Amino acid sequence: MRLLLLGPPGAGKGTQGQRLAAKLGVPQLSTGDVLRAAVKEGTPQGLAAKGYMDRGDLVPDPVILGIMKETLAKPESAKGVVLDGVVRTVPQAEGLARVLAELGKKLDAVLVFNAPDEELVRRLGGRTVCDHCGTPYTGREAGTRCEKCGVGTLVRRKDDEPEAIRNRLVAFQKQTAPVLEWYRAREAQGARVVHIDAVGAVDEVTRRMMKSIGK
Ligand code: AP5
Repeated sequence: MRLLLLGPPGAGKGTQGQRLAAKLGVPQLSTGDVLRAAVKEGTPQGLAAKGYMDRGDLVPDPVILGIMKETLAKPESAKGVVLDGVVRTVPQAEGLARVLAELGKKLDAVLVFNAPDEELVRRLGGRTVCDHCGTPYTGREAGTRCEKCGVGTLVRRKDDEPEAIRNRLVAFQKQTAPVLEWYRAREAQGARVVHIDAVGAVDEVTRRMMKSIGK
């Protein structure tokens, strides 16, 4: 299955995407993770993306289209993939459709995670992530050891500062909400659009998500 996860920052795309990929036995592609790794390694792509990411702005489309093309052509992605936050503008949606058509593949469904802004701000404001394995935590202090990998230290993401959170929410409304309309208008010929209530316990959201794709 090829699934695209859409939703505002903090809706749980990363958390649920990881679970979904494990349950389906397919890789997860998160452009956020790919870009953060590039920033950490100091590659030209990372250096170009860093300023946009720290401010909470979207990284320019050509960078994202390059990541999409490279990843989807890999043999690991041949039998399916979970695309987490990979499409955030209409040109990116058009680009993904082109890349998939060139590979003779199609998207099965677009899963849209919905949660109110107050909940998103609360989650992101209290988030720390492991600087080694990237696991997110809520309500755990920065500076403590990651329980999952036992190696990394929990840090705050730069884009989880209040001003960057505001920018990310604005970017979602302005640039990503139209993507939803784009998929809705093409639903009859392509991927199903499924809405998921992302408020509630993580396991409960996982159950809703799996049910929405008939699993
Ligand atoms: P990215 O890393 O993808 O950030 P985002 O979209 O802002 O999403 P988040 O990772 O903040 O949230 P999420 O929805 O994954 O939620 P999570 O599961 O972590 O992208 C970062 C940046 O990269 C972008 O701002 C942009 O600059 C750039 N970028 C990436 N892709 C791009 C693209 N296609 N085009 C252009 N630019 C791009 O959960 C959040 C928190 O809530 C965690 O602490 C988690 O533990 C908690 N949580 C999760 N579920 C629940 C629940 N059910 N109840 C309570 N808490 C929960």
